[in-house]
Amino acid sequence: MTDIYVGDARLHVINQGFGPPLLLVHGFPLDHTMWRHQIRQFAGKYKVIAPDLRGFGASDITPGVVTMEDHADDLAALLDALRIDKAVFCGLSMGGYIGFEFVRHYSDRLAGLILCDTRAVPDTPEAAKNREALATKVLQEGTSALAADMLKKLFGPSTLEAGGDDIPSIRAVMENARPEGVAASLRGMAVRNDSRELLADIDVPTLVIVGEHDVISPPDEMKEIAEAIPGAEFLLVEDAGHMAPLEKPEQVNAAIADFLEKHAHVKV
Ligand code: MLT
Repeated sequence: MTDIYVGDARLHVINQGFGPPLLLVHGFPLDHTMWRHQIRQFAGKYKVIAPDLRGFGASDITPGVVTMEDHADDLAALLDALRIDKAVFCGLSMGGYIGFEFVRHYSDRLAGLILCDTRAVPDTPEAAKNREALATKVLQEGTSALAADMLKKLFGPSTLEAGGDDIPSIRAVMENARPEGVAASLRGMAVRNDSRELLADIDVPTLVIVGEHDVISPPDEMKEIAEAIPGAEFLLVEDAGHMAPLEKPEQVNAAIADFLEKHAHVKV
């Protein structure tokens, strides 16, 4: 891991391998380790960049509100710092919300877009209110209650039943997440843009991936996203929940490998 400064924050970043760049953007309230199977597989052939976003993992925190645009700005600055012109952007859930902002502001930096288990709709007023309440609770009481509640929603039923190392390790990431960072991105997600209108204008190759049992980003909604983006490919991952890339790495990696083969290019 290396530390890279983007504006006023230091991001903790995996920067591994050589070849066309693949930027892996984690969900909430996680860190780069949710991409462990993708980092392992793709660093052999690609330059894999997997940051801990501002406020998460071992990166610096900005208290208050960190918007999806702020995160997208950080990622563009990260590419600048690494002297990377274009990358394939692969984001899960909050990482996908950030992906939409990246499309809005930096589409010329995209060689392709992979949207995993995410949503184009904004928060309803009620959801935004719940996020504010959760932010206050996390700041007062820490992240344990959030971790326990989210764990059940992140994984599909068969993953939860099978057990395995990923469940305690993701729980530990959430329990160790720092309240100020978590609260800032909760508030940022609450004010995120409606991206439904953007979908028809996405003009980079796109792959949409969703777990069959995802209760946070329902498959029907993701299918609509894929249908609205010109030429997008769609993969429904059987027996997986919201954490499809972690739960079913072989199937997800095969689809990503195929996509990268077609669309990731080395800058000459
Ligand atoms: C995530 O996985 O990033 C979050 O569940 C997204 C959200 O809370 O909307």
